[in-house]
Amino acid sequence: MPPLASFLSFCTLFFASGVFCGSYGLPFIDASYDYVIVGGGTSGLTLAARLAANSSISVAVVEAGGYYEVLNPLSVIPGFAAIQATGTDPSDTDLIDWGFVTTPQTGAANRKIHYARGKCLGGTSGRHFMVYHRGTAGSYQKWADLVGDDSYTFDNLVPYFEKSCTLTAPNTSERLANATVTYNPNVFDNSLDGPLQISWPNWASPLSTWIELGLAAIGIKPGADFNSGSLSGSTWVSTTINPSGESRDSSETSFLSQAMSKTGITVYATTMAKKIIFKNTNVAGGVQVEQAGISWTLTAKKEVIISAGAFQSPQMLMVSGIGPSATLRSFGIEVISDLAGVGQNLADHVMFGSVFRVQVTTSSRVTNDVAWAAEAVVDYASGTGPLTAGGFGVLGFERLPDAVRANLTSSTQTALATFPSDWPEVEYLALDGVLGYWKNGLGQFIDSYEYGSVAAALVAPLSRGNVTITSTDTNDAPVINPNWLTDPADIEVALAAFKRARQIWANVNITIGDEYLPGPNISTDAQILDFIRNSAVQVWHASATCAMGKAGDPMAVVDSTAKVFGVKNLRVVDASVFPILPPGHPQSNCYMIAEKIADDILSGR
Ligand SMILES: Cc1cc2nc3c(=O)[nH]c(=O)nc-3n(C[C@H](O)[C@H](O)[C@H](O)COP(=O)(O)OP(=O)(O)OC[C@H]3O[C@@H](n4cnc5c(N)ncnc54)[C@H](O)[C@@H]3O)c2cc1C
Ligand SMILES: *[C@@H]1O[C@H](CO)[C@@H](O)[C@H](O)[C@H]1NC(C)=O
Ligand SMILES: *[C@@H]1O[C@H](CO)[C@@H](O)[C@H](O)[C@H]1NC(C)=O
Ligand SMILES: *[C@@H]1O[C@H](CO)[C@@H](O)[C@H](O)[C@H]1NC(C)=O
Ligand SMILES: *[C@@H]1O[C@H](CO)[C@@H](O)[C@H](O)[C@H]1NC(C)=O
Ligand SMILES: *[C@@H]1O[C@H](CO)[C@@H](O)[C@H](O)[C@H]1NC(C)=O
Ligand SMILES: *[C@@H]1O[C@H](CO)[C@@H](O)[C@H](O)[C@H]1NC(C)=O
Ligand SMILES: *[C@@H]1O[C@H](CO)[C@@H](O)[C@H](O)[C@H]1NC(C)=O
Repeated sequence: MPPLASFLSFCTLFFASGVFCGSYGLPFIDASYDYVIVGGGTSGLTLAARLAANSSISVAVVEAGGYYEVLNPLSVIPGFAAIQATGTDPSDTDLIDWGFVTTPQTGAANRKIHYARGKCLGGTSGRHFMVYHRGTAGSYQKWADLVGDDSYTFDNLVPYFEKSCTLTAPNTSERLANATVTYNPNVFDNSLDGPLQISWPNWASPLSTWIELGLAAIGIKPGADFNSGSLSGSTWVSTTINPSGESRDSSETSFLSQAMSKTGITVYATTMAKKIIFKNTNVAGGVQVEQAGISWTLTAKKEVIISAGAFQSPQMLMVSGIGPSATLRSFGIEVISDLAGVGQNLADHVMFGSVFRVQVTTSSRVTNDVAWAAEAVVDYASGTGPLTAGGFGVLGFERLPDAVRANLTSSTQTALATFPSDWPEVEYLALDGVLGYWKNGLGQFIDSYEYGSVAAALVAPLSRGNVTITSTDTNDAPVINPNWLTDPADIEVALAAFKRARQIWANVNITIGDEYLPGPNISTDAQILDFIRNSAVQVWHASATCAMGKAGDPMAVVDSTAKVFGVKNLRVVDASVFPILPPGHPQSNCYMIAEKIADDILSGR
């Protein structure tokens, strides 16, 4: 079925059956399951589906949101990903977003920044940009060393990465001839029938073909592969787009939909988890949940698993008595496990960039060419054209070259030397349209010109933020302080990366006129830094706020099987348990960690 048709029939099904965002469990009634999972997001649904696959295990998922396809139909179309309330302006939120806003960020011109997070089945995989790749072998070795468990080396993780997904080769008849994809099929195993679809869109951005050349000109060579444990050079990145229909694939369309048809999984949608319930002082025995002001209890016969994401998993632990004791006591919360690391160590990436008017078609064209826009919609109905892609194509990663590195202060060089030698400092993203200040995704549509951006993202940041609570109620947003661009090393790398982005453009001869943003008059380090602080936007990779670590590490929250220290029958499984944020885009790691811990649980570990 063509994607629009299948999508419409999907909607009709839900409207007609009257379960529009309703609960699929029996609401308001106390019930008991082997496993109760809080958060039906990227990791949560993956883990839930794997546990429920055994018919003698009962699994319930508690998710605050509903179906993103119903609440926000455009979110399924890759070409509309950028306009799904991803902006930094606090007003840029929607029905599948939590509407979180950071504290004033001293490193980012004191702005209070909207931080997009999915509030829906699929969680943030229901509204992200779909880039899929894995971290470097050195980053996983560091993970293994930090947690004292060799099962986290890249070679040992590959089976879990493979298990979650199925790879489809690029459709070369639909893509540009000069947009050759390079990849290594040997790090995928389609015989495992992994539910998550990985593919390349049926559209290659012409802008990216040029940026690829600009990257090569400054030493970032094409032909890389980002799924085999190395991030160096450039490539057309793989994406979580379902090639049958070219629609967004999320943990909901992959893992949950499979589990709904094949297992007895129970999903409590549009239901808030309020608190973990303990029995015998420190044994997790269930979750107190709430819908429409009515509260009831889901008992967990075996375990409670928290998969509420990097902001709300620490919140859930804290309101339930697990976290820094001083914070808990200040809210009158009884301390069940005093863990100083809960909410600390927040790792994230930020990006900023240089924008030009260009002589090739980019998504900016949508505003000035109605016929083109109409054709794009028609093409999408048959799974082709620009709407099949998310507004990007080529990504590049690099460790800053020696000549640039030599210019950094010795303290920054020392700080960067703490990263494994294969860990890049900068990612460059070729973006169709205007990155600009990214107040909202529509800000890219300016006038009758077409625009392109080269963004630089800091993927070896030293700055760390934190998350805490303002009350004992999970309905109140957590306090989110990413602390971007506060470490002096990050500032130096950001300046160097910004200048590299300009050099990339200097080697791309399809530009029109001078740099559009920030403009050629922004030339001194002070001016560039001012622009970076005022325009920096997160890459939305918040993680490591319930960090995995060795027993006895005072900042560790969970052990290497994701069990929370100091309590029993409780795990946390999502981006919050990464001990470090591997370089690049993290969703592969969210699926991997869910697969790995599901295996631990099913194997009795
Ligand atoms: C705009 C944007 C673009 C991104 N682009 C990419 C990309 O291209 N590639 C990539 O790899 N990564 C990308 N990311 C990051 C990636 O999506 C996240 O790292 C990942 O999805 C996080 O997964 P998670 O399982 O940790 O949390 P989530 O997927 O956020 O799941 C948490 C779930 O818990 C639910 N929840 C929270 N609290 C409660 C509660 N109290 N009761 C009930 N339910 C609750 C939430 O509603 C949510 O469904 C992007 C993120 C954003 C926001
Ligand atoms: C399913 O789970 C039950 C209960 O934990 C266990 O005894 C059984 O071995 C599992 N079956 C499979 C096929 O793993
Ligand atoms: C690649 O091909 C497309 C389509 O013909 C064209 O628009 C683009 O400019 C080409 N890129 C390069 C680098 O030649
Ligand atoms: C490539 O895409 C077109 C259009 O969707 C489709 O007709 C064709 O079968 C695809 N080819 C392959 C090899 O998937
Ligand atoms: C190093 O810094 C000097 C002085 O700011 C500058 O002129 C030079 O271009 C820099 N070199 C590199 C490789 O960035
Ligand atoms: C978070 O970090 C900021 C800045 O480093 C600090 O002032 C604040 O006290 C921290 N908050 C918590 C809850 O740790
Ligand atoms: C860009 O430069 C290359 C090499 O100098 C040249 O072959 C090409 O025609 C130029 N393209 C445009 C659009 O000017
Ligand atoms: C740079 O030029 C732009 C456009 O002319 C102007 O708006 C901006 O204020 C200038 N900035 C500085 C720092 O001179």
